[in-house]
Amino acid sequence: MTAQPTALPTTLHREESMDSDKPFVRVENLSKVFHTGSTRRMLGLLPPKSGRKGFVAVDDVSFGVERGQIFVIMGLSGSGKSTIIRMVNRLIDASDGTITVDGKDVRSLPPADLRDYRNRTINMVFQHFGLFPHKSLVDNVAFGLKVRRVDKEAREAKAAEALAIVGLGDRIHAMPDQLSGGMKQRVGLARALATDAEILLMDEPFSALDPLIRKDMQELLIKLQQNFKKTIIFVTHDLNEAMYLGDKIMVMKQGKNIQCGTALDLLEAPADPYIEDFVAEVDRSRVLTAGMVARRTGRHGTEGQGADLLSSVSARVPESTVVQDLLPILATGTEPVEVVDQDGATIGKITAGDVFSALAPSKGNSKNAA
Ligand SMILES: Nc1ncnc2c1ncn2[C@@H]1O[C@H](COP(=O)(O)OP(=O)(O)OP(=O)(O)O)[C@@H](O)[C@H]1O
Ligand SMILES: [Mg+2]
Repeated sequence: MTAQPTALPTTLHREESMDSDKPFVRVENLSKVFHTGSTRRMLGLLPPKSGRKGFVAVDDVSFGVERGQIFVIMGLSGSGKSTIIRMVNRLIDASDGTITVDGKDVRSLPPADLRDYRNRTINMVFQHFGLFPHKSLVDNVAFGLKVRRVDKEAREAKAAEALAIVGLGDRIHAMPDQLSGGMKQRVGLARALATDAEILLMDEPFSALDPLIRKDMQELLIKLQQNFKKTIIFVTHDLNEAMYLGDKIMVMKQGKNIQCGTALDLLEAPADPYIEDFVAEVDRSRVLTAGMVARRTGRHGTEGQGADLLSSVSARVPESTVVQDLLPILATGTEPVEVVDQDGATIGKITAGDVFSALAPSKGNSKNAA
C-alpha cells in the first residue's frame, strides 16, 4: 500500500486567531479533588498522592480552544485527562475554576440549559463506536440527527456525505454485519462528526485499534474535520497521534498542565524534561508539515532573502503536506519546492536542506542533540 499524501487542513493549522483572548472553550484554574471515603482508604484503593483532604486529580489547569480547532490533551495514565473531559461535559463537578463555552459559564447552567448543553452542544465520543446492527450505514450515521428532528432528506444527505468521506459512499445501504471491523470503525467516526453538536469530546477513541487501522482513522478524522469543522477536544497517550492531529497540544503531568502549544512548540522548545523524553520518540517526518518548515525558514517566495536563488521550483505543495511525503519530491530534483496556503498563495520555498535541518532535533533542547 502506498502512502497517500496526507492533506492536513490548512484551516486547522492556522496561526492563533485574532480573538484568542476569548476562545470558544475557555478553562481557567480548573481543579478536581476526589474526596475519597475511608473504605477506599482501608482497601488501599487510593493513589499514593492522596492526602487527608483527598486526591488532587486536576490541579489548577487553564487552556483555551478556538472554534474549529483540534485541541489534544496528552499525558500518561492517571495524569487527569479524562477527569478534565468529564468536567467539561459536567459528568462530574469541578472542585474549583471556571469552564466557559461560547461565553456561557458551564458550571452554573440551570438544569434545562445543562440538558441542552449535553444534548446539543457537546457530543461525547467513546472508544467503542457501537453501531445499530439492524440499521443500514446511512441510518446509523444519520441517527444522531434524527434524534434532533433534522428532516429526513437533510440528515440522509449529511450521512451520505460523511460516508463518502470515509470511503463507504457506495455502500450506504449496507448493513453493519457486511462490513469488516475497520469499516465499522469508519462508520462510527463518520457518525461522530455528522451530528450537529459543535463540540466533540473524544477520549482515546483510537487507542484500542491496531496500528494500521489507527493511522487510517487519524487520517479520516482530519478529512471529516475539514468538511464538518467541529471543535474537538481529543485525549490520547500517544504523542505522535497528538502531534499529527492537534492544532494545539496540552501536556499533562500529575494533574498539571506542563506545556500547551503547537507540535512545533513542543518539538523546538520542550518546557520540561518529561516532554523532552516524549519528543525524542516522535516521528518528526510525520508531524512536521511543509508549511511549518516554510515558516520556520522565514524565506518568502517572491520577495526577501534568497528569493532569486530559489526562482525555479520542482513542485508546488499544499502547506499541510507532511515532510514524509515531501522527501520523495525533494529527492528527485535539486530545485526547491514551493509551499502554498489554502488559497494558493505562496508561503515560501523550501529545499532538502531546510527539511533536513527541521528534522534534526533542536540543539540545546533535546537530549539527542549532537
Ligand atoms: N472517581 C474517582 N475517585 C477517586 N479518584 C479518581 C476518580 N476518578 C479518577 N480518579 C483518579 O484521578 C487520577 C486521574 O484520573 P483520570 O481518569 O483523569 O486519568 P487519565 O489521565 O484519563 O488516565 P488514563 O490515561 O489511564 O485514562 C487517577 O489517579 C485516578 O485514579
Ligand atoms: Mg482516561
